[in-house]
Amino acid sequence: MGSDKILSPLLYLSLFSEFIAAVSFLQLVEANPSLQYYGNRKISGHSQGMNLPGQPVQLQILLDHVVLDNGILQVSISKPQGSVTGIQYHGNDNLLEVLNDETDRGYWDIVWTGNGTTGIKGDLDRLHGTTFEVIVQTPEQIEISFIRKWNASLEGKVVPLNIDKRYVMLRGSSGFYTYSIYEHLQCWPEFDLDNTRIAFKLRKDMFNYMAISDKRQRSMPLPDDRIPPRGQPLAYPEAVLLVHPIEPEYKGEVDDKYAYSCESRNLNVHGWISTDQSVGFWQITPSNEFRSGDP
Ligand SMILES: *[C@@H]1O[C@H](CO)[C@@H](O)[C@H](O)[C@H]1NC(C)=O
Ligand SMILES: *[C@@H]1O[C@H](CO)[C@@H](O)[C@H](O)[C@H]1NC(C)=O
Repeated sequence: MGSDKILSPLLYLSLFSEFIAAVSFLQLVEANPSLQYYGNRKISGHSQGMNLPGQPVQLQILLDHVVLDNGILQVSISKPQGSVTGIQYHGNDNLLEVLNDETDRGYWDIVWTGNGTTGIKGDLDRLHGTTFEVIVQTPEQIEISFIRKWNASLEGKVVPLNIDKRYVMLRGSSGFYTYSIYEHLQCWPEFDLDNTRIAFKLRKDMFNYMAISDKRQRSMPLPDDRIPPRGQPLAYPEAVLLVHPIEPEYKGEVDDKYAYSCESRNLNVHGWISTDQSVGFWQITPSNEFRSGDP
């Protein structure tokens, strides 16, 4: 998706500014939320790190949303689907792309192939939950769950997995955790799992700078620049020649998300920076054990 400001586990960043941390983790069948994230912004006299004092974590359950709030950030999630629709932080109403539909801002998805799938690379499933549950609710920690159960009536329509998407917020942390539990019973149909991820689409009017490593950092073209006639797709759709970008400095460049990847062992944290507002959005990878098929 190139410069579409999609965060998926592809990039490594080492440049820190004031930031919000979003942590993701995914593992098949069994949960292991042994993640750590932290922020370095001083808020209300807090210093950086985990286990900060701060307001108790609160959960608001509304008609079609829930809101996690620890006084540092507020995360809105659709109920019962379980997509992140809003992240309020540091005076910003929403760090996610408000121009996108609510289902297209922060979401888990899967690409799978099996009996009934039609896509060339498999079928895309956004894994919308059908029930919502509170797992933990204390002043220190809230964990919530969005579940979709599979049964034979869904064969060929959705991936044969029970899905349980979790979001966790801790007191005093400038971020949140997310992980997902996928369960496949032995008697269920076989399928190939092409990929699964969580993606966050950040506001293009805020987040303009990306860092992959100490030496690979830059301002980025806009997503609009990839769309013809500003951009011209090349041999594969991810690679686009910027023929008439909004900022002329990018003219003649090829924008290709694969140019911003790096080896998994170096891929500990990645994200985007808003240079105007000194806010960053970072996805921190706690371990590589969930990566099975990737380079
Ligand atoms: C594929 O699914 C259909 C029902 O949706 C079923 O009749 C058929 O036997 C399945 N084929 C295989 C190979 O599992
Ligand atoms: C199977 O799943 C469908 C769709 O979620 C649901 O409507 C139906 O009640 C389920 N059937 C059983 C036997 O659980």
